[in-house]
Amino acid sequence: MTVKIFIPRDSASLSVGAEKVARAFASEITARSLDATIVRNGSRGLFWLEPMIEVETAEGRVAYGPVKASDVAALIDGGLMTGAAQALCLGKTDDLPFLKNQTRLTFARCGITDPLSLDDYKAHGGLKGLTNAVAMAPADIVAQVTGSGLRGRGGAGFPTGIKWKTVLDTAGDRKYIVCNADEGDSGTFADRMIMEGDPFVLIEGMAIAGIATGARKGFVYLRSEYPHAIATMTQAVEIARRAGILGASVLGSTHGFDMEIRTGAGAYVCGEETALLNSLEGKRGIVRAKPPLPAHKGLFNCPTVINNVISLASVPVIMDKGAEFYKNFGMGRSRGTIPIQIAGNVKHGGLYEAAFGLALGEIIDAIGGGTATGRPVKAVQVGGPLGAYFPRELFDTPFDYEAFAARDGLIGHAGIVVFDDTADMLKQARFAMEFCAVESCGKCTPCRIGSTRGVETADKIAMGIEPEKNRALLTDLCNTMKFGSLCALGGFTPYPVLSAMNHFPDDFAPAPMVEAAE
Ligand SMILES: Cc1cc2nc3c(=O)[nH]c(=O)nc-3n(C[C@H](O)[C@H](O)[C@H](O)COP(=O)(O)O)c2cc1C
Ligand code: SF4
Repeated sequence: MTVKIFIPRDSASLSVGAEKVARAFASEITARSLDATIVRNGSRGLFWLEPMIEVETAEGRVAYGPVKASDVAALIDGGLMTGAAQALCLGKTDDLPFLKNQTRLTFARCGITDPLSLDDYKAHGGLKGLTNAVAMAPADIVAQVTGSGLRGRGGAGFPTGIKWKTVLDTAGDRKYIVCNADEGDSGTFADRMIMEGDPFVLIEGMAIAGIATGARKGFVYLRSEYPHAIATMTQAVEIARRAGILGASVLGSTHGFDMEIRTGAGAYVCGEETALLNSLEGKRGIVRAKPPLPAHKGLFNCPTVINNVISLASVPVIMDKGAEFYKNFGMGRSRGTIPIQIAGNVKHGGLYEAAFGLALGEIIDAIGGGTATGRPVKAVQVGGPLGAYFPRELFDTPFDYEAFAARDGLIGHAGIVVFDDTADMLKQARFAMEFCAVESCGKCTPCRIGSTRGVETADKIAMGIEPEKNRALLTDLCNTMKFGSLCALGGFTPYPVLSAMNHFPDDFAPAPMVEAAE
């Protein structure tokens, strides 16, 4: 029987040599006339083991990693084709603790299937949600998504069903589904992993959104820094169109829905939904004042659903297994699962999908394995560049929107960046202001000017110039930005700054005395 060897093809594994490993396997297979075939899958999300190769055996898949091209011949000599235990062998993939303890609903197929094989997609539960949806009234689909408790995974955690209902209830000749795949947050890669590892689930989610709201056209706004995701999504859309999943008659129904991939030139603010819409319309990526909401007047002034990749990719399982099934995972008002991205100075970085409610400390210490440097964890930043820094004292915070908000933090897109005890939190605070100054769209003063003043003030504190006065000034500036900014770029930059000041006051203490500037 032909042996299947799985070699990932996503950006993370390619960046550490997966392509060379695939080529080495291909030449060994030819040279030794082996009855084997290579499947290029997505990543399983265990980044420290990439490139992680798997071999299908009668007992399930066996994993090896991290594999270099120079390891391949010896691995085959050592019995890789039969899943033999040897150096680099990690055992059965399903038994790896990092994977075994996850609840993979949105990422159920990622790393398991060939991302561009529709047969594989269907064999692993794909298209069941859309098949159910085409037989339902739009309002019933919306009710199911609302009932699941799904909240937007892009940052704000807004209930997805309510957004869809607004678009459904708004009259319009044309309506749109826009997928926000800008994924600008530091330490995040869940959107990319889905688009590269299971693109059909996003296409299915968008088609369901279209049928639910009466939109016949969708756009994925994808950042130019994601060339592999762009290529995979473009091919997947083409395949879906040929298979009748997209087009004038979705799965043979009376509903029409088609979609296009659009590439953004790369600006953090273009992830903000209204700036994104401007960019998609070919205008400068500048934030629009709300109201009107995009749900009323969005793309080309038409009612528009704008959702994050993970929000949309979570819909098929809800439409397949039902609102109750999904809602039964999670805690409080945070229902379902959340793909947590563990990054930065961490031993076991990668993607970990779990029901809401895990304690932050469990994620960092037990799952992430602490820092890669082996030094103590000093802080973690959760939720991207606008997220707060949490010290170890707050590691009992459960992963839940409200629990994080209660401690002046946010979950955002669920990216966690870990820092060890060598991190200088004053420098991190300065960086937050500098990032805002660079990325500001310039529309409002607190953000455009405030961020630059923030950098200057942080520099004065670092130089020991009137530290007490400048700390007070920095706090004051943060409050002005928080309450006076038009969007969350200026409005949330104070979170990393104030959390750094509040939790790590020693880093903001004056350096050895320098005379005050004249
Ligand atoms: C500065 C800024 C950047 C943002 N970047 C992203 C992004 O990269 N991806 C994303 O999905 N949402 C991003 N958002 C949030 C979006 O504005 C919007 O809330 C989201 O796309 C809505 O989708 P959801 O309800 O599915 O989360 C950003 C917001 C701000 C203020
Ligand atoms: S807060 Fe900053 S990014 Fe947002 S609208 Fe104002 S200037 Fe633009």
